Amino acid sequence: MVSSQLKLGLGLGLAFFVLGAGAFSYFPNVSNQDYEPEQPMPFSHKIHAGDNKIACMYCHSAPEKSRHSTIPSMNVCMNCHTVVKADSPYIKKLQEYYKEGRSIEWVRVHELPDYVYFPHKRHLARGLVCLDCHGDVKTMERVYQFSPLTMGWCIDCHRGKTTPKTVVAQMFPGKKNYQGPVATVNCSACHF
Ligand code: HEC
Ligand code: HEC
Ligand code: HEC
Ligand code: HEC
Ligand code: HEC
Repeated sequence: MVSSQLKLGLGLGLAFFVLGAGAFSYFPNVSNQDYEPEQPMPFSHKIHAGDNKIACMYCHSAPEKSRHSTIPSMNVCMNCHTVVKADSPYIKKLQEYYKEGRSIEWVRVHELPDYVYFPHKRHLARGLVCLDCHGDVKTMERVYQFSPLTMGWCIDCHRGKTTPKTVVAQMFPGKKNYQGPVATVNCSACHF
C-alpha cells in the first residue's frame, strides 16, 4: 500500500509535465482483464440470473445507493435453498455453514487499487447498466472481469469516446448527436 501511494505521488508529479500534451497513454496499462478466479463453490450466474431470471438487485442490494455493490449474505441464499435442490452436496454445505453462522468466502473478482475512488451510484444514476461494465453476467457460469478497469478505460468513457449512446442521449436531451465529454477527468475526482 505504501509503495502504491508512493508510485501515485511520483506519477502525479510526472503527470503535470505531460498533462499539456494530454498524454494519458503515458501511464502503463496493467490490467486483470479476464481474471476468473475459482470460487469455494460453483455458484452459477447463468443458473440464477439467466435460467431462473433472478434480478441482479435481489442479491447485489442497492448498489445505486452506495459506493460499493454488496455480495449477498447467507440469508439471501437461504430464502430459496432451505428447500430448493436440498439434495445437492453444495446446498448441504451451504445449509451447514448457515447453521454454524459461517459464510462462504467468495474470492473477489474486481478490485481497484486503494487510491482509486469508484462510486457505483453515480454511474447507475446516469442510466449505465451492469452490462455496460460487467458484460453479460447472466450467461456466465463463473464471473470474470469483463472490462480492463484501467485508468484509460475510465477516461475513454468520461471523455465520451465509449459512452453508450442511450446514456449520452439521456444526459444531453436537447443536443442531438452530442460527442463531447460526459464526466470529469480531474485527477482528484478519482484519486484521493
Ligand atoms: C442469487 C444471487 C445472485 C444474483 C441473482 C446475481 N448475483 Fe452476482 N454474485 C452473487 C454471488 C454469490 C457472487 C460471489 C461469487 C462469484 O463471484 O461468483 C456474485 C458476484 C458477482 C460479481 C463479481 C463481484 C466481485 O467479486 O468482483 C459481479 C460483477 C456480479 N455478481 C454481477 C451480477 C449481475 C450483473 C447480476 C445480474 C445479471 C447478478 N450478479 C446476479 C450472487 C448473485
Ligand atoms: C430465488 C431463489 C434462489 C436464491 C436466492 C439462490 N438460489 Fe441457488 N439455485 C436456485 C435454483 C432454482 C437452482 C437450480 C436448481 C436445480 O437445478 O434444480 C439453484 C442452484 C444452485 C446451485 C447448484 C446446485 C447443484 O448442485 O446443482 C448452487 C451451488 C446454488 N444454487 C448456490 C446458491 C447460493 C450460494 C446462493 C446465495 C448467494 C443462492 N444459490 C441463492 C435458486 C436460488
Ligand atoms: C461504470 C461501470 C460499472 C457499472 C455500470 C457497474 N459496475 Fe459493478 N463494478 C465496477 C467497478 C470498476 C468495480 C470495482 C470497484 C472497486 O474495486 O472499488 C465494480 C465492482 C462490483 C462488485 C464487487 C463489489 C464492489 O463493489 O467492489 C459487484 C458485486 C458489482 N460491481 C455489481 C454490479 C451490479 C449488480 C451492477 C448493476 C446494477 C454494476 N455492478 C454496475 C464497475 C461498474
Ligand atoms: C461507460 C462509461 C463510464 C465508465 C467506464 C466509467 N465512468 Fe465514471 N462516470 C460516467 C458517467 C456518465 C458519470 C456521471 C457524471 C455526472 O453525474 O455528471 C461518471 C461519474 C464518475 C464520478 C463522479 C464524478 C464527479 O463529478 O464527482 C467518478 C468519481 C467516476 N465516474 C469514477 C470512475 C472510475 C474510477 C472509473 C473506472 C474504474 C469510471 N468512472 C468508469 C461514466 C463512466
Ligand atoms: C475517471 C477516473 C480517473 C481519473 C479522472 C484519473 N485517474 Fe488515475 N487512475 C484511475 C484508475 C482506475 C487507476 C488504476 C488502474 C490503472 O493503473 O490503470 C489509476 C491509476 C493512476 C496512477 C497509477 C499508475 C500505476 O501504474 O501505478 C497514477 C499515477 C494516476 N492514476 C494518475 C492520475 C493523474 C495525474 C490524473 C489526472 C491527470 C488521473 N490519474 C486521473 C482512474 C482515474
